[in-house]
Amino acid sequence: MLNANGRIALVTGANKGIGLEIARQLATSGVHVLLGARDENRGAISADQLSKEGLDVSCVRIDVCDEESILKAARKIESEYGKLDILVNNAGIVVRGDTAPSAAPLNVVRKVFDTNFFGAVSVVQAMLPLLRNARAGRIINISSSLGSLTLNGDPNYPGYDVRLLGYNTSKAALNMLTVQLSSELKDTNIKVVSVCPGLTKTDLNGHMGDRLPSEGAAEPVRVALSDSNELSSLFRDENGELPW
Ligand SMILES: NC(=O)c1ccc[n+]([C@@H]2O[C@H](COP(=O)([O-])OP(=O)(O)OC[C@H]3O[C@@H](n4cnc5c(N)ncnc54)[C@H](OP(=O)(O)O)[C@@H]3O)[C@@H](O)[C@H]2O)c1
Repeated sequence: MLNANGRIALVTGANKGIGLEIARQLATSGVHVLLGARDENRGAISADQLSKEGLDVSCVRIDVCDEESILKAARKIESEYGKLDILVNNAGIVVRGDTAPSAAPLNVVRKVFDTNFFGAVSVVQAMLPLLRNARAGRIINISSSLGSLTLNGDPNYPGYDVRLLGYNTSKAALNMLTVQLSSELKDTNIKVVSVCPGLTKTDLNGHMGDRLPSEGAAEPVRVALSDSNELSSLFRDENGELPW
């Protein structure tokens, strides 16, 4: 594990759910965490909660669909810290009406993509200069096994019948961002990994599943704090490598 001292992390969508737990666990490891939230008040309430637990956090407004907010956050991080060690692209949505390919309304599919894929691309592009200033930059894309092309075609996969055209394709696209960015940055100290937190009880899925957000957060945090030798698989969950 890398020494967390002096490291700075930004987690998008960190006011609740898995993102809040990722922020809590990174901060518990000694990283200074910026909680990204599109609603400044909700972000501040969550940051206060972590501060009261004795954790070193602050909050920054980022709506991943609002480029100006992203650029403003990047300028703030640049002026206050001059670098970013860990970026967790966690903000994500499921949109009501998303369904199987034969019926998914295009406006719904586009809306999901705006957040889950284009949002992550925008944040990466704005934060890359800061990640390049870090000793060992990490970009963790919070993906899903629902984004696996292979598993979507496997009748034995528990999510086989989950046909959410927008959500599943947005996570497959996010995985392509991981592959392309990882290859583009191969000669730098920045590592890029897609991590699936597993089916976790949050607002996103109406609190389905057995896992608590703290459990869903554990693997993304472990990977974010890993040294480079552990980062050879680009798409993984807590059990190891996932198929693309
Ligand atoms: N829960 C699961 O079973 C599961 C499984 C696999 C992957 N994931 C992924 O895990 C990530 C976190 O999801 P979650 O389950 O923790 O859901 P959640 O509790 O609904 O949290 C989603 C977070 O994303 C934020 N967000 C949404 N749109 C945003 C935008 N445009 N700009 C900035 N923030 C935005 C939300 O902010 P607001 O509070 O303002 O809405 C919220 O903080 C997502 O990428 C999701 O796809 C979840």
